[in-house]
Amino acid sequence: MSFDRSIKIAPSILSADFANFGTEIRAIEAQGCDWVHVDVMDGHFVPNLTFGPPAVKAFRPHVGTVMDVHLMIAPVDPYIEAFAEAGSDIITAHVEAGPHIHRTLQAIRANGAKAGIALNPGTPAEAVDYLLDMVDLICVMTVNPGFGGQKFIHSQIEKVRTLRKMIGDRPIHIEIDGGVDPTTAPLVAEAGADVLVAGSAVFKGGSVEMPEVYGENIRAIRTAATEALRAVA
Ligand code: DX5
Ligand code: ZN
Repeated sequence: MSFDRSIKIAPSILSADFANFGTEIRAIEAQGCDWVHVDVMDGHFVPNLTFGPPAVKAFRPHVGTVMDVHLMIAPVDPYIEAFAEAGSDIITAHVEAGPHIHRTLQAIRANGAKAGIALNPGTPAEAVDYLLDMVDLICVMTVNPGFGGQKFIHSQIEKVRTLRKMIGDRPIHIEIDGGVDPTTAPLVAEAGADVLVAGSAVFKGGSVEMPEVYGENIRAIRTAATEALRAVA
């Protein structure tokens, strides 16, 4: 995985057909997505339940790009090894998930994955102070984690701007998660984000029988974001 700041679209398979993950993953990749975003929820840190390591391991052979695993679980440390062994390229843990985020990030890298840190909407950018040299990605939650299809929280755009300044020249991605669509993508791209997670905005209107709709949705988000960048350049 080489580093660059170009816009990357990462569909969240939380909005895919749960009976057809392999086909859905292959479809979004064939339709031009850059990464595949996997939302792991525990019914405790967030009020919803999704996948454990065996499911993530089953997704792996279908992912030809980057498997971006977002852990919304607490505690997180006991599961890092299993999610790394399942083939996660990036493992993102929440700063709010426990008292020892520094240790968590160390453990992610020690297990051979890239390390991401996620911030809930109520958590300030400064939470990543002293951690910048141990992260590969910062995920700014633009909804309260737990469900797809929620409304984008505009106050987070300023946080993205602040983080972009804090990062400077470090090779750290800024990822946006929640409520990303062609209307909100330009706002966060312009503020400095490069990875755009989108669940409902990618999968809406499409299906494994009509995967070309995924392609149209991915292109609409990408075009909106890249045009916003061109306008400020
Ligand atoms: C929310 C998840 C997101 C979610 C995004 O807790 O982390 O990845 O699936 O869904 P949309 O794009 O529908 O807001
Ligand atoms: Zn997510």
